[in-house]
Amino acid sequence: MTAINDLVSYEARDGVGVVTIDSPPVNALSQGVRAGIKGGIEAGVADNNVSAIVLTCAGRTFIAGADITEFGKPPTEPGLKEVIGIIEASNKPVIAAIHGTALGGGLETALGCHYRVAVASAKVGLPEVKLGLLPGAGGTQRLPRVVGVPIALDLITSGEHVPAPKAHKLGLIDELVDGDLVDGAIAFAKKIVAEGRPLVKISDQNDKIEEAKKTPGLFDEFRKKNARRFRGFEAPENCIKSIEAAVNLPFDEGLVRERELFSELLAGEQAKAQQYFFFSERQAAKIPDVPKDTPLIDIKSAGVIGAGTMGGGIAMNFLQAGIPVIIVETSQEALDRGIEIIKKNYAATVSKGRLSQEKMDKYLSLLTGTTQLEDIKDVDIVIEAIFENMEVKKEIFGKLDKICKQGAILATNTSTLDIDEIGAATTRPEYVIGLHFFSPANVMKLLEEVRTQKTSASVMATCMALAKKIGKVPVMVRVCEGFTGNRMLAKRTDQAQKLILEGAKIEDVDRVLYDFGFPMGPFAMGDLAGNDVSWRIRQGKGVKSPVADAICELGRFGQKTGAGYYRYEAGSRTPQPDPVVEEIIEKAAKEAGVTRRKITDEEILKRCIYPMINEAAKILEEGMATRASDIDVIWVYGYGWPIYRGGPTRYADHIGVENIYNDMLRFKSALGGEEWTPAPLLEKLAKEKKGFKDL
Ligand SMILES: NC(=O)c1ccc[n+]([C@@H]2O[C@H](COP(=O)([O-])OP(=O)(O)OC[C@H]3O[C@@H](n4cnc5c(N)ncnc54)[C@H](O)[C@@H]3O)[C@@H](O)[C@H]2O)c1
Repeated sequence: MTAINDLVSYEARDGVGVVTIDSPPVNALSQGVRAGIKGGIEAGVADNNVSAIVLTCAGRTFIAGADITEFGKPPTEPGLKEVIGIIEASNKPVIAAIHGTALGGGLETALGCHYRVAVASAKVGLPEVKLGLLPGAGGTQRLPRVVGVPIALDLITSGEHVPAPKAHKLGLIDELVDGDLVDGAIAFAKKIVAEGRPLVKISDQNDKIEEAKKTPGLFDEFRKKNARRFRGFEAPENCIKSIEAAVNLPFDEGLVRERELFSELLAGEQAKAQQYFFFSERQAAKIPDVPKDTPLIDIKSAGVIGAGTMGGGIAMNFLQAGIPVIIVETSQEALDRGIEIIKKNYAATVSKGRLSQEKMDKYLSLLTGTTQLEDIKDVDIVIEAIFENMEVKKEIFGKLDKICKQGAILATNTSTLDIDEIGAATTRPEYVIGLHFFSPANVMKLLEEVRTQKTSASVMATCMALAKKIGKVPVMVRVCEGFTGNRMLAKRTDQAQKLILEGAKIEDVDRVLYDFGFPMGPFAMGDLAGNDVSWRIRQGKGVKSPVADAICELGRFGQKTGAGYYRYEAGSRTPQPDPVVEEIIEKAAKEAGVTRRKITDEEILKRCIYPMINEAAKILEEGMATRASDIDVIWVYGYGWPIYRGGPTRYADHIGVENIYNDMLRFKSALGGEEWTPAPLLEKLAKEKKGFKDL
């Protein structure tokens, strides 16, 4: 074996040159790896003892992608495109032997090879779009030439990881290898040499391109079909344009166009925000005072208390992860209703073809219902999701303390209550934690985990790991009113209410936030979730909100009653502006002595967003969240903040904290109100001309 450099070696085996990349952990395409591949291929071409070359990787995976630590740094030679060009130009067939994942630049490298073989467990894909980019080393030009334009459009704009068997069916993998990958790849290499098969240079393959030319409306139809999914994002459109170039331009010119479209994205804010978010999400998994080697509690079974809106969804997450669930209700009727909803939800997914009947049956076989709390005495974790009432919750936790085995985690899904107080109702507060799921709990990715003063490190570490197991993104925060997410949301709700009282139209406030990138505005969201929920919370606290209260007093709870801030035609979820509501607002404004005026879109946006950012500064100052980026993860996964804007604190840095601070002071003098007093941290950052990123 010859070392090409520190990371790549070359060896002739049985008449085939084997180039092996060994750059742990994931064989990312660093400068050394690129130079090594180039040297390895050149060694194979020069070696008279071999008639073909296998390109493979040591360790747990094929090249898993670009070396993200090189992002934003000046490019170093040789570039990936050059290396791929050298592979493709080899006069001996080059075969990529893939295990683990071949993603991004990894798959682009494999597409430069003349053939690809893989083990069945491998996955391939071009996920650049998820980082706000496009595959910039020929991926958008080569993939459509292999799998055809429609499939390439799907794969490149979704960034999907394709399992090897499916990739094999698509023609992206030439052969699946059983047993040892390198042995299989060598055997494949010898076979194609023996059969005298041609060197398949993908850049020369134009059949699929010609096929696409026969359907001129292909691209526009694809855009139209996916308009909702791509709304606001720049990368998918550039991916589409680049694939269009593959169809309309000769290969080399297509490569140039791909580079232009890539560079455009790379220089833009969206790609930076999406890359920032990628790291933020990974960072959020770490809790500074919980060591990595903290022992975990084994979670083999779960108990869920309450089979209502949240309990049902929470139970589904566990079932899907293969963890048996016992769900507890107060009456058989409530229990049956709750379980029926779970069944209906699964059945709907089955009928859409997104779940097999077999899996549904398996999930349901893991579910048991009971009306006896004692039945959960042996579970490893309990999640309480009953009414939002402190006395009732304390009573339940007191009972759980007596019933549940020692070492079981006792979690609450409360969204507003003091979890320290709930923990104090037990003799084991170190096992009590908040697991704040978002509605619908089987869909929303965020799990806001809330530690009390007493929650133990091992309970926290277990719940962070458990969240991943059930497909959630966990962020650990501390106990305060509304925790982190809802505490910030309350600031937006407050402004939205003030704006409509002062003269903004409901549909304008919603439109501005929708155009900013949220899935819907605050009023449409209220109508969807049910306006009665916050009304009850306000009543409990003795807080008034003139328009919101008046709407609820009329029984306008939202979509479920056919009317809320909007009206809804029977069977429709489309919000229609309602003159009745406008009258309610005018009356409320008169009573409050508010003179109504025209309000610009710019004012709507700033007033909805800046008080949230100010609250984020307070949350950080108080240590309620660990990092600014954790807050961003909460908002993207829990509230639909557009990922291409990174999250509230990233957005603040983009706008400039100093500019936000100055606007806050302007609003303070124009409108008054404590909400416009900048948080000390915001003021400090503004004065030092810094951002949240500098904390
Ligand atoms: N709905 C949301 O959007 C949302 C989001 C996050 C958190 N939460 C929180 O989740 C919790 C549950 O909310 P929900 O919307 O699911 O309420 P829900 O009214 O839909 O369901 C509560 C269920 O608990 C049952 N229940 C009440 N007391 C019980 C007891 N002692 N034992 C067993 N079951 C009992 C009720 O019969 C009911 O079915 C609340 O703490 C709420 O604040 C709700």
